[in-house]
Amino acid sequence: VQEQQLKASIGARLRAENAVVVAHYYTAPEIQALAEETGGCVSDSLEMARFGHDHPASTLVVAGVKFMGETAKILTPHKRVLMPTLEATCSLDVGCPVEEFSAFCDQHPDREVVVYANTSAAVKARADWVVTSSIALDVAEHLSSQGKKILWAPDRHLGDYVRRQTGADILVWEGACIVHEEFKARGIADLKRVYPDAIVLAHPESPNAVLELADRVGSTTQIIRAAREMPNKRFIIATDQGIFYKLQQQAPDKEFLIAPTAGSGGACRSCANCPWMAMNELETLATVFNRPDNEIFVDPAVGEQAMVPLRRMLDFAA
Ligand code: 13P
Ligand code: SF4
Repeated sequence: VQEQQLKASIGARLRAENAVVVAHYYTAPEIQALAEETGGCVSDSLEMARFGHDHPASTLVVAGVKFMGETAKILTPHKRVLMPTLEATCSLDVGCPVEEFSAFCDQHPDREVVVYANTSAAVKARADWVVTSSIALDVAEHLSSQGKKILWAPDRHLGDYVRRQTGADILVWEGACIVHEEFKARGIADLKRVYPDAIVLAHPESPNAVLELADRVGSTTQIIRAAREMPNKRFIIATDQGIFYKLQQQAPDKEFLIAPTAGSGGACRSCANCPWMAMNELETLATVFNRPDNEIFVDPAVGEQAMVPLRRMLDFAA
């Protein structure tokens, strides 16, 4: 009842402020439900960017991590962009500081710079392309077919995966996602022995040994689609457990098991949970309009430069 009241008061405030919630699949179930019930969106990082850009609301409340809020602000600088907390970062973003990254790019001027959406506005501003995992393979294939060599940042597992799949000449920055890097091939193989019929769906931020065991590799949206469309009944999921809300909603007659992580000792529901995504709570969402410390600002000059590769991403994906 308390949760319902909280959600109702957040909904009323959103309407009064001409605001809409843009949430990621990794946020808590109650956040995703609120976004759906109030006309917002729950999606992957590519669709979040597109939704925020296209929606007529004057304020976007981004429930995810900071790079998602920054992307929204860069694409729509005239909108107010708020987040439940600006502390919600991402290990990929943190692991790719702009000064070092820029020096790395300077050392390889012959390469097209492709950065993952999980980066700061300043890193995007240094890039030729921004990609999300939904279109990473397509963009690499596109560039490679034009004979271009690629500098890829910051996720080394995604970069290595894209290189293996496309044969593109890719030099990777050595970043990683602290959540996906914890998935263990051995644990998945053990779980497959217990459930030999289970299909393994993995996010490409996972290590190669995990991807080798996967029946399908894809972004969050692609994982959800595969679970819905494949005739199989049981799935082992190697991505953040927040995705279970949507998986169960879209495929209610199927069973989903989270892939084991280091120390999880088998299937578990408390592992594989991004600590920064978990900072998005109904309580902080309820006060999002009252606090002075949670609006996203991007330096206009940086934003203008970052808009170029971001627009390229949206146009390419269209
Ligand atoms: P998606 O673009 O697949 O939603 O991934 C975002 C992310 O942060 C993965 O960890
Ligand atoms: Fe970043 Fe990994 Fe969290 Fe995604 S799950 S936001 S890549 S730390």
